[in-house]
Amino acid sequence: MKDLANKTAFVTGAASGIGLGIATALAQAGAKVMLCDIEEAALDKAVQGLKRTNADVDGVKADVSLKTELDAAAKATLARFGKVHILVNNAGVGGAGPYGAWTDDDLAWTVGVNLMGVLWGIEIFGPLIESHGEGGHIVSTASIAGLLSRGSLPYNVTKYGVVAISEGLRMELAPRGVGVSVLCPGFIRTQIMTSRRNEPPRFDRPDRAALAKAEASELHQFVRQRVETGIDPLYVGELVREGIEEDRAYIFTDTEFEPYIEARFAAIKQGFDAIRGREPRR
Ligand SMILES: NC(=O)c1ccc[n+]([C@@H]2O[C@H](COP(=O)([O-])OP(=O)(O)OC[C@H]3O[C@@H](n4cnc5c(N)ncnc54)[C@H](O)[C@@H]3O)[C@@H](O)[C@H]2O)c1
Repeated sequence: MKDLANKTAFVTGAASGIGLGIATALAQAGAKVMLCDIEEAALDKAVQGLKRTNADVDGVKADVSLKTELDAAAKATLARFGKVHILVNNAGVGGAGPYGAWTDDDLAWTVGVNLMGVLWGIEIFGPLIESHGEGGHIVSTASIAGLLSRGSLPYNVTKYGVVAISEGLRMELAPRGVGVSVLCPGFIRTQIMTSRRNEPPRFDRPDRAALAKAEASELHQFVRQRVETGIDPLYVGELVREGIEEDRAYIFTDTEFEPYIEARFAAIKQGFDAIRGREPRR
């Protein structure tokens, strides 16, 4: 989508961090933005902040892991702005922790927000974007952890899932005038390390002892420090705006992890090389 002016965007997880950065960058390009988040006070503050810049924005509270709430948010967006052209599936949580700390509740929460929220977002907003024939774009926030699996494996599963959904959907929707991108950020300066502030009470039964141990680990401390000193989320928002304008399949924030991803591709190639030339038995 070359011209974002007067188009309408729906952005989830928009009250903080990367989502707020994306909402801000889209508003700066002249788009109308419906900010969606589960954290009401932060959402109000974000909407008021953007309104002060004369942006045409509004807010709607929803838990993206609940289809009925996303449905209601879609209806509110249409009632407020008439049409929707851009969907940004960004809401996400850093839940579930490392091996040894997993619980049913934590897995359901992490998969519900990071993966089901993206699937329902596409299912609900995709047809609305296609309905007006003016074209559109869908961006979903995965992570470098969607291409490289270390540390919190359930989190990585959800992010690999978001990459898979985006790659497949891009081929399906390109001929129908809707672009699809996946955002794979490195370390960004956000509130991701305090994701549990938004864990709904229905899931709030983590294994506290295992979590405390995980949070004291060297890896957790390293990630915390890297996030605290990470990339500016508004810069990420500007990259997403560019990614939509240029219809980029992958939106990266930096090249820090490129060599590790190349090493993964090389390991995959080794697997093929090991059986190359053999005739499979059928
Ligand atoms: N910060 C990083 O280093 C980093 C790196 C890679 C990927 N990501 C991804 O970026 C996305 C945004 O996270 P962030 O880093 O900006 O963190 P953040 O905590 O600052 O922002 C996340 C937002 O999502 C909202 N949210 C959480 N659960 C929700 C739910 N059920 N329904 C609706 N909204 C919900 C939160 O209230 C918050 O406003 C996530 O998908 C995250 O996995 C972050």
